[in-house]
Amino acid sequence: MCSIIGYYGDEIAAPLIVKGLKRMEYRGYDSVGVATESNSQIQLKKGVGKVAEVNFNIQLDTLPGKVGIGHTRWATHGKVTDVNAHPHSSNSGKLAIVHNGIIDNFEQLKKELERDGYVFKSETDSEVIANLLQKNYESVKNVKNAIIKTVLELKGHYAFVAMFEDGQLAAAKFHEPLIVGVGKNSYFLSSDVLGFIEQTDNAIYIENGNFIIIDKGKLQILDFNGKSIKQEIVQISREFADVYKGDYAHFTLKEISEQPDTIFKAGENTKDAINNAANYIKNSNNIYITGSGTSYNAALIAKQVLAKYAKIKTDAIISSELRFSSDTIEPNSTLIAISQSGESADILNAVNIMKKINCKVISIVNSLTSSLARESDIIIGMNCGPEIGVAATKSFTSQIMTIYKITEELCNGTFEINYKEISESISKILENHDQIRHIAREMKDVSDIYVLGRGIHYPIAIESALKLKELTYIHAEGIPGGELKHGPLALMDSNAFVIIINPNDSTYSDTLMSAREIRARGAKIIGISDEKSDIYDYWIEIPKTSETTYPISETIPIQLLSYYAAIEKDADPDYPRNLAKSVTVM
Ligand code: F6R
Repeated sequence: MCSIIGYYGDEIAAPLIVKGLKRMEYRGYDSVGVATESNSQIQLKKGVGKVAEVNFNIQLDTLPGKVGIGHTRWATHGKVTDVNAHPHSSNSGKLAIVHNGIIDNFEQLKKELERDGYVFKSETDSEVIANLLQKNYESVKNVKNAIIKTVLELKGHYAFVAMFEDGQLAAAKFHEPLIVGVGKNSYFLSSDVLGFIEQTDNAIYIENGNFIIIDKGKLQILDFNGKSIKQEIVQISREFADVYKGDYAHFTLKEISEQPDTIFKAGENTKDAINNAANYIKNSNNIYITGSGTSYNAALIAKQVLAKYAKIKTDAIISSELRFSSDTIEPNSTLIAISQSGESADILNAVNIMKKINCKVISIVNSLTSSLARESDIIIGMNCGPEIGVAATKSFTSQIMTIYKITEELCNGTFEINYKEISESISKILENHDQIRHIAREMKDVSDIYVLGRGIHYPIAIESALKLKELTYIHAEGIPGGELKHGPLALMDSNAFVIIINPNDSTYSDTLMSAREIRARGAKIIGISDEKSDIYDYWIEIPKTSETTYPISETIPIQLLSYYAAIEKDADPDYPRNLAKSVTVM
């Protein structure tokens, strides 16, 4: 997944573009590039690396001109090389494009263009857009018809911005985000509001199947048939401006540290939506919950919480798997779709499948303007503010809080959220940096980590393993305690490192027994518990609380452990290798 940006206005474009790209780097960060137009000439610089690094090496921000485009890449087609980085110029050099998404029929289009004499420099699918647009522009002689002709030929999902040598900008949206930031005498075209939030909080969310042209200072929005479209300018919530690290060394640490506050905001201001969601759930014969990665782990928590407290049975399905079991899904059901970004292609695809069989969609989402929010019947905001660190941290605890809030609504007073206890418990654990950093140092060179939990702590164990993998690059696995003797015990020896999630609830004694079995095989044990035990080589204390606080509080030490192990290994915790924040490809 990538980020695209364009600027048209009174100011020099390149520095604004570079700034916007830095803000959107979470979307992809293996290479970066900028192209600008000045005196009817397109100039372009690009290279492999993060925005700051490439800018330092080749000064992207010194390109001249008041119109420009930029891109950060997360490779899908073609290796991470300078040549494959965007922007891509067409053969004539008279236009350049940046693209986010995938062109499914690029091979066929490329062959046809090669037959017409076009030469391709990169291995990307995106370069096809540049040359196809050039070919169509040369044939129809105006930008509007060239874009219409081009989008009719493209298959896949994409948002692209094209810059022409006469300074016109055009951009099209098809199942990838495209937002116009409207400033004073200026326009930004961007994958995310973060691309321009420092300059303007007025935005137009371009609808699917529409494109825009900016020429001579005027913006036109059209549909793919060429019909003019009117769209309102909306004001973006100011909280999106909160994208600075402040005094924190990394966004990940900042976001972990925000959790005593963010848990209060989950589902806030969406009382009606929660009420409506509870009614849908009560009146639906079948309820499915879906998500990817961390959001799927939250779905597993939701399944247990709804069953235990609200006595409601649900099925949790990983979004990328849903299409393979779609024939087993009952039509007219309810789908709870959980996603931080609301832009993951897998979840959007799952939602699409469910809507086709007449299911209602309740989304639990952080970005209320995302594609998922737009596709949903009911939107419940996690409201934890922008999460820039690629690994999900505060969004996970906000997802759990949102699920609790729905459960509270369903339970008519028999389930109560103790916000104060949860917040204080997180704060207490957050005081424990030194001990956790010390353990991270001891753990950083192991090759395998196992995380054990039972009951509701099993999804937390899976989530913990995911966090450890992403941030430390160490193989990690979440295991239900009882399954140990059915296989994983074979892996336990003095080289293994095992994290035992063991709060003092109904799972406590059984999990302690599992810890004993592991200890007997010589593995090192980190116990996360409110009860001290000699079995643990390292004990990370969590406060004694009610049972619904435990899943949230036990998540915090593992987030910190993963963060500090990344630091100890010199890995970048904000931007783990090979990953992107929103995975907009399936
Ligand atoms: C894990 C992580 C990913 C995301 C997944 C879903 O730390 O960040 O596994 O949870 O890609 O993303 P959203 O929630 O944006 O749909």
